[in-house]
Amino acid sequence: MSASAVPKLKGQPLTVEAVTSAHSIAVGFSKNKEGMFSFSANLSLISKIEKYFGLNLVDELSFFSATGKAGEIFEFPVSAQDSQCDRIFLVGVGSHSLLDVRLAGAALGRKLRGKENSLYSLVAQTGTEILAHGVSLILGNYQWTKKTSTPKLKAPDYFLSNSHPEQLVRAQVVAHAVLRARDMIHTPANIKTPAWMAQQAKSFARNTDLIVSVLSGKALSEFGGLQAVGNSSPNPGPRFIQVSYAPRGSKNWPHVVLVGKGITFDTGGISLKRPYDTMIGMKCDMSGAAAILSVVSAMPLTKPKVKVTALLMCAENALSGTAQRPSDVITHYGGTTVEVINTDAEGRLVLADGLAYANLNLDPDYLVDIATLTGAATLGLGRQYGAMYTRNDVLAKKLHDIGETSGDRVWHMPLIDDYSIALESSVADFNHTADKPKFSAGSVTAALFLEKFVGNRNWVHLDIAGPARSEADAGENPKGGTGFGVRLLIDWISSIK
Ligand code: BES
Ligand code: MN
Ligand code: ZN
Repeated sequence: MSASAVPKLKGQPLTVEAVTSAHSIAVGFSKNKEGMFSFSANLSLISKIEKYFGLNLVDELSFFSATGKAGEIFEFPVSAQDSQCDRIFLVGVGSHSLLDVRLAGAALGRKLRGKENSLYSLVAQTGTEILAHGVSLILGNYQWTKKTSTPKLKAPDYFLSNSHPEQLVRAQVVAHAVLRARDMIHTPANIKTPAWMAQQAKSFARNTDLIVSVLSGKALSEFGGLQAVGNSSPNPGPRFIQVSYAPRGSKNWPHVVLVGKGITFDTGGISLKRPYDTMIGMKCDMSGAAAILSVVSAMPLTKPKVKVTALLMCAENALSGTAQRPSDVITHYGGTTVEVINTDAEGRLVLADGLAYANLNLDPDYLVDIATLTGAATLGLGRQYGAMYTRNDVLAKKLHDIGETSGDRVWHMPLIDDYSIALESSVADFNHTADKPKFSAGSVTAALFLEKFVGNRNWVHLDIAGPARSEADAGENPKGGTGFGVRLLIDWISSIK
């Protein structure tokens, strides 16, 4: 596999014997306004560790002129007789917020990339911290490469306090799901065709109670959006991939339907992307589909009392003789007609079919779509927040709060009704982009367009164009696909009663 092996999280007692049995130890520290240092482990354990190696950790921090900023890291060698432990990492945990605890984990994970050694991390104490920190240790360790010179990537073992074993198991499951999404997103589009996405779904479902069904070719005749976009590419044409988690006894459980944008590459089509370098990152345009596939694949392990159906709307938006044209009129699933204005606004066309299909056939209690939909969302919120649209304020608050604790943060954006005039067409039910000059609010009008297809459902739209891809190897993210949305949706589904 081109991606790194998955690091393991293991619970260990909080004793000096267990801590010093690891190859390395991470000690979290903070610095207060008066310049005093404190540690994220109890003082008696800290002094036992100091005694064991014959050192003083506050002296070390002073030597390094530590500031305590989250993710700041100092590494130094240690030795003790008959001990394999040869280094200590002092890692800043800022104000010890969950975000800080995650940044500390990611910094440590990054230090151990490609290494097989074990690390005992003394950063997290409460169950929530152990979950956040455990996930980030794994996320920071992530690498994806096709370099033939790179030896098979190895992964470390992370030891954490065994005080909350269930949170360690959960952290492992959640992190693994994020890595799966990252692997798919990093895979380039010459490999990652819509058919390849279907194979991924089938391979994740093997030996589980997930059910996968894939539609292609003539079976997509009612899916006008998916066809209009995907028939631009013979590579080898669009796919509608449905993955369901509905184990025995689930008949009366609430039903969550997730719809993901799965554009395996977005050239813009005939409305070709310009300047051309804006196209480089567009293998990530299936991040929504990757996220929901990873989420539903985690359900047999997290076992919520919720039915989950993921609809992956997979197509390549290519430039070719069979590409759709600006001014084409297409008929979406369910019969709504749409005038295509700009073939680079392809995401909403494939999502419209998925949302209509869910509304008409699946009776969802919650209908959630997730998509790298608009550059405008990135302009508004940058790369650390996803744009969330919903009419349900209670649900919005809940998702916002779960975003803060899980690390996939979302901001509630307005569905501004009077902006729907932008979607009027003289020849079809709607036009698909706000083509009036200088209309702006591209992320809002895209959301208003999608809303036309959701009936009266409890609907949430997540525009993740900003956070789905990171420009730099920084924080919890590698350069490239981040797997944004996986943690948010897994945690949210677990919270549904
Ligand atoms: N995939 C893009 C959106 C995108 C842009 C994602 C940058 C990630 C980073 C989407 O298909 C697109 O091209 N949107 C257009 C819509 C416009 C033509 C109405 C955009 O945002 O410019
Ligand atoms: Mn596009
Ligand atoms: Zn796109």
